[in-house]
Amino acid sequence: MISISHRALERLAAASRIAVLTGAGISAESGVPTFRGAEGLWRKFRPEDLATPEAFARDPRLVWEWYQWRRELIASLSPNAGHLALVELEKRSDEFLLITQNVDGLHDKAGSKRTVKLHGDLWTLRCTGCSIEFEDRRAALPELPPRCRCGRLLRPAVVWFGEPLPRKAWERAVEAAARCDIFISAGTSGVVYPAASLPLIAKRAGAYLIEVNVESTALSHLADEVILGRAAAVLPKLVAQPSPAGRQDLATT
Ligand code: OAD
Repeated sequence: MISISHRALERLAAASRIAVLTGAGISAESGVPTFRGAEGLWRKFRPEDLATPEAFARDPRLVWEWYQWRRELIASLSPNAGHLALVELEKRSDEFLLITQNVDGLHDKAGSKRTVKLHGDLWTLRCTGCSIEFEDRRAALPELPPRCRCGRLLRPAVVWFGEPLPRKAWERAVEAAARCDIFISAGTSGVVYPAASLPLIAKRAGAYLIEVNVESTALSHLADEVILGRAAAVLPKLVAQPSPAGRQDLATT
């Protein structure tokens, strides 16, 4: 049973500035594997072999095979009710920013507009020589590793371990965290920095912090409200406009 307090529903209904941080957990029910946990990708693969600049320099084909596998897996997947609930929240919020660590593109597919992608995008390629970036949504690339017209290798435009976050995206995320009335952290383990510092920035600036996750995380002790449950089940309930009748449908604490 999902338990959401009246206080959280009221705070969300009254908020005019909202920031949301999402992680792999929000896409889990669409079929995208998470990184940590029993079935997580980092249980089967070593990040240093696949998601670092050194790994790419050593063996670009191996790194690309991994990204190609993920592109093929994700290409046919659809956003779930959690992604869609955030689109609704955005539509009715004056000031809103969805900050995602996900590279799967499912927030875009759902229709979210005011977003920043802290860890880049699986569907964008960047040249390691001339730095040109372009979208390529083909699940399977014809040649691995792919090459730019300039002759140099293309790489996925994602952030690898040891690389800085895109500066503008990070600045927008920090600004939104520092200004918001409500900060929602959904489906993230909260262990990868600097993204994991955003809930803290929001909290220190006075925001009400709501966490949505299937289990407690490194961020839970900071949260004003921890809602345990699947993002696809919790977010639609959290975001539903509260009405006296509507609230009776919820199990509240
Ligand atoms: P993780 O795999 O670390 O964490 C996923 C979180 O989602 C966990 O806390 C799960 O408990 C939770 N979860 C799983 N299923 C859920 C569901 N249905 N509803 C709600 N929560 C659920 O993923 P991230 O926190 O996104 O970085 O990981 C952060 C970064 O680490 C990723 O962006 C990636 C990774 O290495 C890079 O690749 C740079």
